[in-house]
Amino acid sequence: MKYVPELPPATIAELKKEFEDALMASERQGVDDLLIWLDTQTDFFSAPASTQHHGAYVGGLLAHSVKVYKVTQNFLKNISDVPAGSIAIVALLHDLCKCNFYTRRVKNVKVPGEKRWEEEESFAIEDTLPLGHGEKSVFLAMNHIRLTEAEALAIRWHMGGFDDAARSYVGGMTQAQAFRKHPLAVALAIADMYVAYLLDD
Ligand SMILES: [Fe+2]
Ligand SMILES: [Fe+2]
Repeated sequence: MKYVPELPPATIAELKKEFEDALMASERQGVDDLLIWLDTQTDFFSAPASTQHHGAYVGGLLAHSVKVYKVTQNFLKNISDVPAGSIAIVALLHDLCKCNFYTRRVKNVKVPGEKRWEEEESFAIEDTLPLGHGEKSVFLAMNHIRLTEAEALAIRWHMGGFDDAARSYVGGMTQAQAFRKHPLAVALAIADMYVAYLLDD
């Protein structure tokens, strides 16, 4: 039996501390409540970031979120005076939609070059709250904390050109308008893609 890959527990614990410290430093009301919810009601700290592309391992979603946080901080360093707390909130929470979203399943897979099959564990999608992607992350965050306009728009549109709505004429114009208004939104979308394609394994 082949199992899904996992980050070592010590690495997950380190990343979790970084994640929690950065969010707590935002001093946003309700963030402590959000962290308790993540810890007790969701699989956020063990979920993968995708089924088979970037971060397809236990702890992948956490690792991805922390990387996006660092890259977004870096992108905005010399460009604008976006509050540090806003950067932490949008970058660390942009993919909240992926918690309670993946399951594990076992399939029989043919062993290449051999006449035998092997059981292999992999991730599958089971969307427990089918509300979309960025939209769902905004909704879940706002169950616990208030978001500013810039934060809500940044999280909503973080998929950039991969967002389904952005592919339509009106949706594309709406997204472009959000990007023109808020440097935070552009920085997050570019950082997410940068991490997913260049840094995530
Ligand atoms: Fe995303
Ligand atoms: Fe992401």
